[in-house]
Formats: sequence, structure tokens, C-alpha cells
Amino acid sequence: MYEQVSHSLLNQILDEIKPEIRKRNLLRFYTRLGANFYAIHSLFTHLYGKRPDFLEQMVKLVEVLASRYIERSDDLEELDIERELNHNWFLDQNWVAMALYADGFSENLNGLKKHCSYFQELGINMLHIMPMMKCPEGASDGGYAISDFKDIDERFGLLEDLKELAGHLRKRDMLLTLDVVVNHTSDQHEWAQKAKQGNKKYQDYYYTFPDRDIPDMFEETMPEIFPETSSGNFIYDETMNRWVMAVFNDYQWDLNYSNPQVFIEMVDIILFWANQGADIIRLDAVAFLWKKIGTISQNEREAHLILQLMKDCCQVTAPGVLFIAEAIVNPTEIIKYFGEDAVIAKECEIAYNATFMALLWDSVATKNTKLLTQGIKSLPNKLNRATWLNYIRCHDDIGLGFDDVDIVAAGYEPISHRRFLLDYFIGHYEDSIAKGVPFGRNQKTGDARISGSLASLVGLEAAVKQNDEKMIDDSVQIILLLHGMIMSFGGIPLLYYGDEIGTLNDDSYLEDENKANDTRWIHRPKIDWQKADLRHQHGTVEQRIFTGLQKLISIRKTIPAFADFNNRELIEVENEHLFVFIRNNPDRDKEEVLVVANFDAKPQHLNLSDLGNRAHFEYSQLRDLVSGDTPSIFKDELVIPPYHFYWLSDQYSTAIF
Ligand code: GLC
Repeated sequence: MYEQVSHSLLNQILDEIKPEIRKRNLLRFYTRLGANFYAIHSLFTHLYGKRPDFLEQMVKLVEVLASRYIERSDDLEELDIERELNHNWFLDQNWVAMALYADGFSENLNGLKKHCSYFQELGINMLHIMPMMKCPEGASDGGYAISDFKDIDERFGLLEDLKELAGHLRKRDMLLTLDVVVNHTSDQHEWAQKAKQGNKKYQDYYYTFPDRDIPDMFEETMPEIFPETSSGNFIYDETMNRWVMAVFNDYQWDLNYSNPQVFIEMVDIILFWANQGADIIRLDAVAFLWKKIGTISQNEREAHLILQLMKDCCQVTAPGVLFIAEAIVNPTEIIKYFGEDAVIAKECEIAYNATFMALLWDSVATKNTKLLTQGIKSLPNKLNRATWLNYIRCHDDIGLGFDDVDIVAAGYEPISHRRFLLDYFIGHYEDSIAKGVPFGRNQKTGDARISGSLASLVGLEAAVKQNDEKMIDDSVQIILLLHGMIMSFGGIPLLYYGDEIGTLNDDSYLEDENKANDTRWIHRPKIDWQKADLRHQHGTVEQRIFTGLQKLISIRKTIPAFADFNNRELIEVENEHLFVFIRNNPDRDKEEVLVVANFDAKPQHLNLSDLGNRAHFEYSQLRDLVSGDTPSIFKDELVIPPYHFYWLSDQYSTAIF
């Protein structure tokens, strides 16, 4: 948009910009800057317009964008241009992701590179490598307490190794996702160290206070995130003789985004990693970016403005790079991290579908889909050019983040239902075979979240211990069922490393004093490659899960109806054990897939008349895309075996079988 004030300011900035930048031929850069400048200027003014150094900061921001553009490699710029042309590229059904710790999956980055064929064997083409930037020895919240944002921790290798890995992946058409921990730094970061030494500039990078007056006001409404290990949201720093905001662990200091220098530093860091070859940047803990007294200091409007501004800046320098929002908040809030536009994601193109994740776990525990169906019915529609990251579990705890209103609508009482779920997964409930452990128990509220590997949570650990073939079989089925859901729901399925071979809980973390008080380490495994080799041995659990997933992935990739164009219709059916939806191919009328999942331990029936006139299937022609079989239909009733799902279609037959 052309707007006089912002454009005359742009002219002024271009005059003031460093001569070495001014002299370059930056045609593409200036075109994008011109296109985005109105938005950048408006947002920057909104956030920082009242500051006397506003113009100086704007010049600095543009300089950062230009310098990082100059540094961007030709290869990456080519990708940018390609993706600008084909801007829906990430909505394709071809993408299947896996999240992993480089040192858990292998020894380090080089080791990881050597295992690339493993990903290709399974069909993974997008890797999220958990944070590996420099962080202090000892406790570092799994790499989320960073002491140097522009270097790799030596445990993982060198920056060069990462660059090489990025190139290696690119050659294989695989995407690389890296974390940028935007909300906080380690208290060992240079900025924090300088703040401690009394440097005012760097004290202003954080929220620091001389006494408890303001912290106490914040505390009145701010919840505790890690109540067991770091109660309260402020810590007292003796060297500095000030209170500092530290919402997560005591050693993770929250950055102060009301200071534009912090914003500019972070944009520089994001672009730095984009230039190392990251295709996607996962922005950590974005809900927390803005703090306001009298609120819970999450999901504030300014947090959204900061993300919009980050996106606009990234589009100028590295437009091919996408953002993932890590905002594990209420369903109605999560959706806002795509940005509130009509079509295009103005903040993050991708967001964790924490709602679907939690709802799936509800169905595992209850064996019915009342809340799952209700929760998905209430999930607001997302933008067309944005997509979900659908996952079953990740490196974090599982929070029961669905809405109480939906719990009531599903016929439960919220407090007791949540208590039941927690008891179920930590194995306190009589009939439960789950082997989870609580995380973040809050003694004041009784709340807790759940840790535990997927396999252990669905009963595989108990089954193996009891050497019970039927139980083993059921847990393998549940693992495949859950993956069947994330692969067909709409969005990018995100697998978690180790789940593909049924990795059980690992309690060796209890022997490490830096990890022992954080139960999430129970599901952050070191891959046992001998166990992984069993994926080639017929009949083993590893082989059943691995080949099952391999098949689902390869089928997913061939089904255009599984691409994400908001082309899903949820169907409420009478049978409360079934989760049913239709995916359609927006480009080809009547090319549909009917997804029917049975979360119960007994076979269930779907009355096909429940589908009404929403499906256009030729029922006699229906085939399950996974098995290739025609499912049993008895007088209009489709039979679904226990813990089983179908991807049914009357098309696609030749493509797949
Ligand atoms: C995110 C990460 C989590 C970490 C927290 C604080 O939620 O996923 O592992 O503890 O941020 O950085």
C-alpha cells in the first residue's frame, strides 16, 4: 500500500542508511521493502512510536534487514523466489515432519547427517531439530536457555556442521526447522551478564525492578508455568540487586519487547538462522512476548503485533522462510497466531495444533469421541494460507488444553473429567494401563500435565512387561490409529522421534541432577539403534509400527484431498466411539476420502445414513486406502474393528494399489 507518511520516511531512511549498504544493487530487497514498508512502519510506530530514538531505531532495523539480505546465499535466494511464486507450497500433502534432539537421535549433527537415509526410509521430509544453540552446562531447559544465539553448542558440533547438514537436506528435498527462543535468554547470556554488572542498556533488555512493588502487582494475575521448580515469576539477582522477570525457569530471563533494541536483535537472530539454511523457524513461547500488569501476560495484542512485525521483516529479507508459532494456549487463542487476516497468515504460517493433540488423548482415555468431536466442532476455522502442525506428542508435557465449555457440552463436569484424565495417564485409575508421570504439579490448584512416551502412555510398556500379545497388539493399533489421525486431519503431521519404533519411557534422567526434577526427560530418549534395527525383523513391535507408519506416510503423499485447504468436513455421527470426517480435493469435485476412526476396544458400527448427503461415495466401490480392502458393510452399517481407522475412497484405486 502507498501511504505518504511511511514512504517519505522510507526515503529518509534510505538516505541515512550506512553507505556500504546504499552502494549495493539491492533491487529485489528494495522492491520487497517498498511493498512491506507501510505495514512495518505502522507496526513499529504502534509499538515504539513514542520513543525519542524512533527514527534511529527504524534505520537500524532496515540496516539489519539489508545486511542479512546481502549475506543470503544465491541458493537460498533462489528458493525464496521459487516459494514466492508457488506460495501454497507448504500446504501440500507431501510434507511429513519429525521433531528430534540431535544428540538423542545420534551423537551430534554429523551423526544425524549420517542417519538421513532413516528419514527417507520412513518418508520424513521435514526435520525439526530441537535447540542446539550455545547454552550453559548443567540445567538449560533442554536447550531453551540460550547463552549465545549465534553459535552452536559444542556438544552438537560446529556452525559449519549445521550449514552442511542444511545443504545435505536441501539436496534431498527435505526441510529444516530450527528454534529461535524469542521470549527469553539464559541468565548466562552476554546481555544478562552485562545487566548484572549494572549496564543500564542491557538491564533494559529485561524486566528488572529495584524492589517488589511492580513484581507483586504482576504476580497477582500471572500464573506459574513451572510451579514445582520455579515458583513465582520473578527472581532476585544479588549481583544486580534487582528483581528480574523469569517466567519459566529461574535461569531463563524474559526479554523486554517494549524496548525496540530487543526486537531488532531478535529479527537479526531469526534472519541469521534463516541464512544458515533454516526453511522454517519455530518461534518458541510466543504467547508470552508481551507482559501487562493486571493480566495473565499471555496472548496480549502486542505479542501479536510483534509477530506480525517479525513476519513482515522476514518477508523482506528471506520471504521463503516460514514461522511456526509455539503457542500452547486455549483453542480460541491459538488460532490467532496465524494472524487475523482474511486469507494470508500475517504472523505465523504454521501453528501447533495443541487442541487436536489434547483431544486425541482424551479419546484414548475415554475410548469415546464425544469431546474430540465437540472440540473439533468448536475449533475456529483457520485462514486458507496457514496450516496446522498436527502431533500426538512432542518433547513437552501433554496439557489438557481444551475448553471447559466443550467438556460440559460433551456431557462431563470439567474438574472431575480433567482429574480422571490425569489419573488415567499416570496410571492411578484402576483400569488404566498407561505409564505416564505428572509434570508441573501445582500444589495450590491440584493441576498437572502429563509426561511419558507415546508407547508407554498407550499401554505398550505394561503390555510388554506382562508379555500379553493381545495388549501389545492393541497398543500398536492405538499408535497407528493416532498417527492415522494426524496424517489425514489437514496440516503437517509431526512425528516425535522414537515413536516410530515404539520407544518406552526412559527414566535414566533421574540419575542426572540437572534433569531429575523435570519429568519431561522421561520422553526425550537416546535412540537405541539396535532396537531401531528390529524394524527390519518381521513381527517385532518395531517392525509393526515402523512399516505401518511408512505405509501411512506414503499413502498420504499420494492423496491430494489430504493437502490442507480447509477441505475437511467434520461429521457428527450417532456412535460416540467414532471420529468421522470427510476430506475433499478442492481441485476435483467428488474426489473425497472418508476418515472413520474407532477409539473403542470393541468393533463399532457406522450407520452410513448418518453421512446424509454430504458424501458422494459409490458405497459399493468403497475401498480402504490403507489395506486396499473393501470394508465390511452390513445393511448400511459399516463395521470398524477395535482401535482401527479407515481412509475410505471410491477413487484413487489405481494410484495406490
Ligand atoms: C517452550 C518449549 C519448552 C520450554 C519452554 C520455555 O514451551 O517447548 O520445552 O520449556 O518453551 O523455553
